[in-house]
Amino acid sequence: MDAILVRGGGPLHGTIPIAGAKNACLTLMPATLLSEEPLTLTNAPRLSDIRTMTQLLQSLGAEITTLQEGRVISMSCHGAINTRAEYDIVRKMRASNLVLGPLLAREGYAEVSLPGGCAIGARPMDIHTDGLQKMGVSIELRDGYLYAKATGGRLQGAVIDFPFASVGATENIMMAATLAKGTTVINNAAREPEIVDLADCLRRMGAQIDGDGTSTITIQGVDRLGAATHPVVTDRIELGTYMLAPAICGGEVELLGGRIDLIGAFCEKLDAAGIDITETEKGLKVKRRNGRVRAVDVTTEPFPGFPTDLQAQMMALLCTAEGTSTLEEKIFENRFMHAPELIRMGAKVDVHGGKAIVTGVEKLKGAPVMATDLRASVSLILAGMAAEGETKVSRVYHLDRGYEHVVSKLSGVGANIERIKDE
Ligand code: UD1
Repeated sequence: MDAILVRGGGPLHGTIPIAGAKNACLTLMPATLLSEEPLTLTNAPRLSDIRTMTQLLQSLGAEITTLQEGRVISMSCHGAINTRAEYDIVRKMRASNLVLGPLLAREGYAEVSLPGGCAIGARPMDIHTDGLQKMGVSIELRDGYLYAKATGGRLQGAVIDFPFASVGATENIMMAATLAKGTTVINNAAREPEIVDLADCLRRMGAQIDGDGTSTITIQGVDRLGAATHPVVTDRIELGTYMLAPAICGGEVELLGGRIDLIGAFCEKLDAAGIDITETEKGLKVKRRNGRVRAVDVTTEPFPGFPTDLQAQMMALLCTAEGTSTLEEKIFENRFMHAPELIRMGAKVDVHGGKAIVTGVEKLKGAPVMATDLRASVSLILAGMAAEGETKVSRVYHLDRGYEHVVSKLSGVGANIERIKDE
């Protein structure tokens, strides 16, 4: 198994290209099930999660080819469809549940394994299934699988009120509703940029969708969807992660493709901490002002609030800030597993339920640490880049799920980082 070795170093300078969004690509890919004609995605990220989704869609009958070293994913679902998403693939990645809505829309029937436990919390699917039931689907749970069947073979439009603005449930219902009979309204829908990206792609395929990016999305069902080519939106989480590199190490780095509108609440917190962000022609330039970073309080919220997927990385920054910061996690119940690892590096962090109190220290110290999930793993790399001495981050397979070429992107701006074989 590989590990990442990081040695703390000085200021960073240069540019980092930001890839297409993992989370957008993972919901755009299942949209291919909605059409018999090809769907091509450009600006796709090259990640193990994308390979898992490829494998899942192929098991359902999709033909998938990749071009330009994985940057372009060309998919076609013109033949017969297998309606069973097997546990062996689904268990690897929760986003596999995004095939449920499209399978029901196309075939009126689906058998999808429940994803099972996940390191950052229970993550149930009740919001997805309650919404689908409103659309005339009967759902039964047997042997760990959801058996879902649309009454009369076709989904019916419905008004659906979400109790919480779930990203995945919004995506599943939105895809399901594109081919339903009549109009579907989702109230309290998620507003994330990945939802808008999915709506853009579905519209290119011929879907009638309004209101994406707001809390009420209206979908007028159509009889069929056609072919489309769609560029995947920029990955705002990769963007935020790399914005933290010069914030932590000093220097000035330009993030190519970066946009403030994707990540406004995060930028406000960086500004309050003492980081300058400027928009350039090619993206965003990030520079730490003189002196130590200042403590800030952060609460994670659905978009446009501070993203939970940047909480661990933000904690790495605040570990060396002047003063005491509070990080409150409101989306997942168990998302502070990076805290004990950061403490091993000399950080002062107290976790009480959904809150972490971080008292900044002047310098972290390198240590062997363990990645526990995707975002936690990159937070440990960021912490190691600012620490005295050497940090070895083990279990980097988590990292490969969501960050492409992390070593070359960070060493390209002057970080001392390498990938090694770990015994
Ligand atoms: C997506 C992102 C993930 C991000 C999360 C929140 C993808 C592939 N993943 O995950 O990176 O951290 O949004 O921004 O896009 N919930 C329920 N019942 C449900 C669905 C969700 O209780 O039926 C709860 C979850 O347990 C969790 C919260 O709602 O506590 C947020 O989940 P959701 O917005 O659905 O996140 P995902 O779509 O799984």
